[in-house]
Amino acid sequence: MSEYILGIETSCDETSAAVVKGGVEALSNIVSSQIDIHQKYGGVVPEIASRRHIEAIIPVIEESLDKADISLDKIDGIAVTRGPGLVGALLVGVATAKSISFVKGVPLMGINHIESHIYANFLSNRNIPFPLVCLIVSGGHTDLVYMPEHGIYELLGKTRDDAAGEAFDKAARVLGWGYPGGPVIDRMAQKGDGSKIRFPRAFLESGSYDFSFSGLKTAVLKKAEQLDQDTNSAITYEDMAASFQDAVAEVLVRKTIAAAESKNVKSIIAAGGVAANSQLRASLEEEACKKGYYFHVPPLSLCTDNAAMVACLGHYKHKAGIFSGLDLNALPNYPLGK
Ligand code: KG4
Ligand code: ZN
Repeated sequence: MSEYILGIETSCDETSAAVVKGGVEALSNIVSSQIDIHQKYGGVVPEIASRRHIEAIIPVIEESLDKADISLDKIDGIAVTRGPGLVGALLVGVATAKSISFVKGVPLMGINHIESHIYANFLSNRNIPFPLVCLIVSGGHTDLVYMPEHGIYELLGKTRDDAAGEAFDKAARVLGWGYPGGPVIDRMAQKGDGSKIRFPRAFLESGSYDFSFSGLKTAVLKKAEQLDQDTNSAITYEDMAASFQDAVAEVLVRKTIAAAESKNVKSIIAAGGVAANSQLRASLEEEACKKGYYFHVPPLSLCTDNAAMVACLGHYKHKAGIFSGLDLNALPNYPLGK
């Protein structure tokens, strides 16, 4: 019989709760975003995020149970993000999950946020062939990970400075396009020509699967200053968005394919907020398929932070009997696979 897992996610600026049946069927996935509140500060303010999570967490959980048409008594396990993330924000989810687990006597599972992003793939497709390479691209992480099977991770490369999502957010900030930058740049890029500006691509040493995006922000700033001064320029801001996106996507795709080739994998998958980027999804799929890899990326709503991916990973932990005690604590720097 399929079990019901309640997932809770509060690692950054989204309060989310979901009920997932049997690891594949999201009966609900409620996401209450704080973006409007943080927008005026140009990024997430940790203290405000924690307070908003406190206000939102119970209504969000209630809504997720209502939508799934299930009571807490029917829940078989509670999966909660314990890190990485903002400590104050994480603690709201962890404390709530522990209380429910204690009161209802249901097993508790502390979840790694990055691992749950990977599992958004298995929520939408449980038949992805192993071994695989996963590109994890979010606001805080850019990692290339080799997975020979469920739950085993080998970090092949990571960013040495800014994460890919951070690069999108910083570029949008210097251009005055608001927060978060990824969706705005993605939208603007659709009307632009990515071949108009050749932004730098940092491939680093040969054979390295690490990334570096910090130079891009400076290049965008310089180009924006030039554009502001040259009112007759044939280059538009849409071209700038498309050229920036091309630069980020090209590096991510080339390194992912190279990693897949070196590890001789069957599949390539992607995860995290930046995996919602239309250019990255299209180029990665095209290159992966050209080389004969099985390719999967979660639907857009499962790329950014949500609790269904947390509950999906909870399903695998529940099946394996990997539970946490009521002494579970938030781990703001929780490494993948530890
Ligand atoms: O995974 P996520 O929701 O939160 C973290 O764990 O960080 O990722 C948020 C990041 C932000 O930097 C945001 O700008 C980026 O994902 N993002 C995108 C797109 N949608 C969200 N970046 C590029 N294109 C998008 N369509
Ligand atoms: Zn995330």
